[in-house]
This record gives sequence, structure tokens and C-alpha cells, in this order.
Amino acid sequence: MKSGTPNVRYFESILGTIGNTPLVRLHRVTAGLKGLILAKVESLNPGGSVKDRIGVRIVEEAEQSGRLRPGGTIVESTSGNTGMGLALVASVKGYRMVFTLPDKMSMEKIRLLRAFGAEVIITPTAVPHDSPESYTEVAKRIARETPNAILADQYDNPRNPESHYATTGPEIWDQTAGQITHFICGIGTGGTISGTGKFLKEMNPGIRVIGIDPRGSALREYFYTKKMTPLPKTYKVEGIGQDYVPGVLDFSFIDEVIEADDRESFLMARRLTREEGILAGGSAGTAVAGMLKIASRFAEGDVVVVLLPDTGERYISKIYNDEWMRENGFLTPERITVRYVLDSKSKHPRGVISIDPATSVRIALDTLKQHDISQIPVMEGGRPVGSVHDHDLMMKVIESPALVGAPVRDVMGANFPVVGIDASVEEVLRLMRVKENYAVLVEERGKIDGILNRYDVMEYMGR
Ligand SMILES: Cc1ncc(COP(=O)(O)O)c(C=O)c1O
Repeated sequence: MKSGTPNVRYFESILGTIGNTPLVRLHRVTAGLKGLILAKVESLNPGGSVKDRIGVRIVEEAEQSGRLRPGGTIVESTSGNTGMGLALVASVKGYRMVFTLPDKMSMEKIRLLRAFGAEVIITPTAVPHDSPESYTEVAKRIARETPNAILADQYDNPRNPESHYATTGPEIWDQTAGQITHFICGIGTGGTISGTGKFLKEMNPGIRVIGIDPRGSALREYFYTKKMTPLPKTYKVEGIGQDYVPGVLDFSFIDEVIEADDRESFLMARRLTREEGILAGGSAGTAVAGMLKIASRFAEGDVVVVLLPDTGERYISKIYNDEWMRENGFLTPERITVRYVLDSKSKHPRGVISIDPATSVRIALDTLKQHDISQIPVMEGGRPVGSVHDHDLMMKVIESPALVGAPVRDVMGANFPVVGIDASVEEVLRLMRVKENYAVLVEERGKIDGILNRYDVMEYMGR
């Protein structure tokens, strides 16, 4: 904060506003837990994430050591946030920037970096970190081949954890007046947890530092067994987890590592937003979901700090998009109802195509063909009176061709069962075990307004 002209308070540039993020008490997502549980809200940095802290320090060190000169280029492989942190510095100081991002990263992050004038190169996610196509290797090559360029190198650059040792750690210590008992934090490069953990442990070795790792990453297993799973699975949460141990990750400051999966992470991020008013990114959800797994250990008088790395605004098209959440199977309620399966149908979620009992068999067959469906309820006055199925109907016509002119009333099968929209999916599965129940009709407020056939139920089960 400058105060050269009396009473005018301002920052020399946006870079001065980085850090000093607040601790905010969590209430609803931590209901019933003992201790004071506080979130370090890193989305309140100007670039919207914890990574603003490392961008400045990395660039300033490169300038001081002469590796980066005016007009130079900053290159980095990033899940987006480090790019943003570096973009703030590059914009203020006039450097070019080239960022490589894995293709799983959200469109918002890519557009944001481009908004700052960065060149963004998208690389495949599903390749090992040392493949020449990986985002880290592509960035290294560009940095090597571009004159007056530096690789910010968040994975191996000691400035990354140092910035947390110099800022995040002391802030948390001061804000809790030295009373912090647990520090909980996701692990990406490991910079945040290693730097902050080191500072906090130096101040009080009794503070428990707990890392949270997304399911699919190899870090948790490595922490406990010192073995690397050769092919970790891909997962959707961004910014955390690894298939190797980055140079800046120092496990000696970490007491334990807990795992949380994508679903838990995203549902918790949404709860942080809706129940605490903190618009949170996916890895913030991972950190809180992981914390809750050990929260029964917290005692009265404990002061727990969980770090929330970035803003949910970066994931509006994913975590905060119900369609994306549903497509990826993350939005399944605890008790799956008919309403949920009906709403996830790819075709015709509501409404029923039906025929009248007086319709001729020929028209019934045409209707099945025209709508590309296999069965159709026969309805009279809005109520089901029978059903026809293409296979059964065709067999009957082949046996007695004269039937094509007959009304379906004469050939139809039994009614499809009717279930309420809030019935459980188990009820539907039970009914569908009966051979003739090719479909069930769904009733909402006394009206038949949906149909589920076996394919619809299978489609839902395959998610
Ligand atoms: C969204 C998000 N969360 C968490 C992290 C993890 O922080 P660190 O790399 O310091 O371990 C990152 C880092 O890239 C991130 O982008």
C-alpha cells in the first residue's frame, strides 16, 4: 500500500494486492463438528487463485538472476491458474507469454489466459508426464527454442514453495494467532503444502499437515508405500494429483494424505457455493471433502485451516453445469427416483406416444416405425388400457395376415404398469423383471406423463 500523496491509499500495481487472503469460518458443510474450521479463501487473490502468489516471485527471481530480460517470454505448463498468476505479472511488466494446458482443462481457463494476451497451446491429458506430447514437455521445448525465454517451471522451481513459506504460512500463523492445529490442503505441484507446511511446522511441529489427493492420482499411494502406480487413472478435478513426484513436493512436511474422488469433490464445491456463499473450484471441494473424512478427530479448541485454491467461476461450464455433471454421473442423488432417470433420458424425457384401442393394427405398426420405438401403450381417456409391442404384433400378423385391418383392442397385450414419478428406480427394475413389462408408465399428479423402457433404464445404469 502506497501513501506518497497524503491520504491517498493505493497499490502501485495489481501485483500489490496478491496474498493476505481472509480466513472464513465454515458453518453448514461442517455442521456438528468440533473445533473452529476455517477456509483460507485463495479465490480472493486478483487472479482468482492461490497461484498468484508464485507467479510474482518466479518472475522477479528470473529478472534478478538475469535469465529474463525486457521483451522476454514467460513459458509454463499449467492447469490454468499458474498461467493466470504469471499473466498478471507479464501484463504489468510487459512480457510475452506462452502456456501449455492439458485438454481436460475448462474452456473458461483457456479464454481467461487468452484475455491477458497469452498464447495457449492445448496438449493431450492422457499421456505420461514425460511423453514428448505432454504439457510439461511441450513447454520445456518451447522455452528451450525461444530466445530470452524462461520456463517458470512450477514443478521444480524452488520459488514455488518459497512463496508459500514467505506468505501463505506466515499469514495463517498470524491470522490464527499461532493457534492453528491442522492445515489441510490439496497437492498439485505440492508447492502450497510444502512451503506452508514447512513454515507452520517450524513454528510448531505439533501442527498436523494433511494433504488431499484426488482418486486416480498416484501421490497418496506413493506417500504410504514409496511405490508409483505405473498407470494412474484420469480424473476430472483440475490442478491436483500427479503421476510422479514433482521436485517441489516435500513429503517430510506432510503427516498424512487422504483421498477424495471427483464426485465427492464436485458435490462439495457446489455445497461450498450454495451453503457457504464461497464460489469454489473443484479442488477446493476435494480439500473439504477429504477433510470431512478425518473430521471426527477434531476436538474442542482445535483450529483447522483448509485451503481453497481457486474460484468456481472457472468451472461454470463444468461443475456448475447440471448437464455436464449428469453426463459424467456426478449428479446422482442418494436415492435414485423415476424422475431422475426420466430427466436423464436422451430422447423424449416427458410425454407419452400412445394409440387409441380403435386404431388399426396397420396404423399401430406404422406409428411404432415412425417414432422408432418398440412398444406403445394403448390409452383411452388418458388411462392405459393395454399395450402393443412390435415383435409380438408382427408375429400375430405373420400368423394371421387379415389382422392388419383389425383394431388393436383385439390383439393388444396387458397394460404397462404405472409408477409414481417419485418411486425408486428399484421399483422399476422389479417390475421390468416380468417379461411382458416392456415399459413402465410414469404418473405425475394423476396424469400419465412419461414412459421408461428397458433401454432407458439400461442407459441410466451405464452412466
Ligand atoms: C485449482 C488448483 N487447485 C490446487 C492446486 C494445487 O496447488 P499446488 O500446485 O501448490 O500443490 C492447483 C495447482 O495447480 C490448482 O490449479
